[in-house]
Amino acid sequence: MCGITGFTGKEAALPFLLQGLEKLEYRGYDSAGVTLVDAKGLYTVKTKGRLKDLRELLANEHLPQTAGIGHTRWATHGVPSNLNSHPHTNAKNTISIVHNGIIENYASIKEELLRQGYPFVSETDSEVIVHLIDYYDKGDIFEALKKALRYLQGSFALCVVSTANPDTVYVAKKDSPMIVGHSSIGSFCASDIPAVLEYTKDIMTLEDGNLAVLKADGVELYDFAGNPLPQHWTHVPYDLQAAQKGGYDTFMEKEIHEQPHVIQETLRGRIVNDDISLNELDQLAFPWENLERVYFVACGTAYNASMFAQDLFRHHVPKIPSFALAASEFRYGSYYLSPNTLCIFVSQSGETADTLAALNRAKERGAKTLAIVNVLGSGLARKADVTLYTCAGPEIAVASTKAYTTQLVLLTCLVIKMSELLGVARENFKELIDNLKDMPKIVEDMLKEKDQVHEYAKLLADKHDAYFIGRKMDYFSVVEGALKLKEVSYIHADAYLAGELKHGPIALIDKGTVVIALATQADVAAKTISNIEETKARGAVVILITTSKQNTDKFNYVLRVPNISPYLMAIPVAVLLQLFAYYAAVIKGCDVDKPRNLAKSVTVE
Ligand code: G6P
Repeated sequence: MCGITGFTGKEAALPFLLQGLEKLEYRGYDSAGVTLVDAKGLYTVKTKGRLKDLRELLANEHLPQTAGIGHTRWATHGVPSNLNSHPHTNAKNTISIVHNGIIENYASIKEELLRQGYPFVSETDSEVIVHLIDYYDKGDIFEALKKALRYLQGSFALCVVSTANPDTVYVAKKDSPMIVGHSSIGSFCASDIPAVLEYTKDIMTLEDGNLAVLKADGVELYDFAGNPLPQHWTHVPYDLQAAQKGGYDTFMEKEIHEQPHVIQETLRGRIVNDDISLNELDQLAFPWENLERVYFVACGTAYNASMFAQDLFRHHVPKIPSFALAASEFRYGSYYLSPNTLCIFVSQSGETADTLAALNRAKERGAKTLAIVNVLGSGLARKADVTLYTCAGPEIAVASTKAYTTQLVLLTCLVIKMSELLGVARENFKELIDNLKDMPKIVEDMLKEKDQVHEYAKLLADKHDAYFIGRKMDYFSVVEGALKLKEVSYIHADAYLAGELKHGPIALIDKGTVVIALATQADVAAKTISNIEETKARGAVVILITTSKQNTDKFNYVLRVPNISPYLMAIPVAVLLQLFAYYAAVIKGCDVDKPRNLAKSVTVE
């Protein structure tokens, strides 16, 4: 969701700006642009469309400027268009800005600036920023920016260049991610680490309220009032290879195949002497005997992982109420929160705006907060009382795969540990822990089913709809399976509780309708099978996912999962349903890694 790059240094800025934006393409965008700056002036080129369209516009230009800013926009205020694209410049064409986030009070600022005679050319909230800086600009751009920042409400990652100081890039951050980097060739900034990795691994993650001044020979850090701040630099341990396709056609395919390895990584050090080790929980200093309730809060795929955790926790600790909630609801809803409430936030990016806002709300009400995130040093990780990291590595494809299964693994470890702390005997978890230990191998075996899954995905080639059904712990697996199919193949997919089928959805089942049915929960498998029979009787084409124990003589399309604990079936099932969505999308010729209208990291509300 909106990507930003910025550079000032000893070499031409454009190559970094463009390659950085390409590394951020996974965030989703609909237009792109750059401003290059030197003492002669600003040179801005922007366009609706993809980065290749921008590259074409720049192809025959000689552009040696050594400072500049770049942007990929994901439309929020105003349609995707050349005018609404960033960068935005002032009327004198002396200041240029790129912005990620939402300026909530832009309407009142715009009204005032219009009164002052400022001409607006776009429909965006962002354009107010450049005119506001211009308004305060009395010859010192840093002072003007500080004054403008006082008025901006909402979220922003903001980069500013000006002809007055053409060797400097100014960067401000509040509630929208931004990192800066430095190397011998200059200073960089970007919305996410992969954008700079080819140039430097020395990075500093900006905090809310940080104002960074980038110069060729280093970075200065201030608060919004201009007081100098200490700098905390880190050396990123992974390299660009980890963020590239490594021989696969798409990132999604690569990331699906990385799951045995990343599950192993996430489990590293977590199972010690057949018990779960989560020392981070000590830092929480939670009065477990007083625990009143548990919320798992997240968005999208991470929300589906939260439903898994809710069910697992409810099964083991039924006396403590636990709820999985979408962060967009939790942040505005009337939910009981107290110092004896534990709120667990689940997120790949750690930057999802709704999840961050939900965490802020929980903290305001005095609840304890724990984050499960994948991205080191992300907003959630910094704000939660305690953070547990999934070790999925960079996830680039918009549709989440390896982040989801590592979330399931880490949530299982967390629920086991919490249950033990709440008095559930350790023996209850033997099967779960044994299964977790085997999980990398189990997932490896599921990946061997890919040719079969590919064949079954062809059943969807000419279909507009698919229905997913399941009971108990199979339910959120079908919700996630349907989400995956929708996201990447654009086939309408609905997920239903199998027992609810006859209360409405069965009206939609017709000759040739594809139904993906899960029957991995031994105690209710027979019930689900009879629901499936009902769909078959109406002409449905059924793909059944079940265990080897189940008799499947009456079914033509069957995929098997191993006989593990019903509570962990979600993990092998996820792999099959990811492959199914992936192949359906490939067969339909969809852009698997960058589905239309979707963003990897939704940093606006
Ligand atoms: C977007 C992505 C989803 C993701 C969701 C939550 O919608 O497209 O794949 O599940 O955000 O993201 P998070 O980073 O918080 O897990």
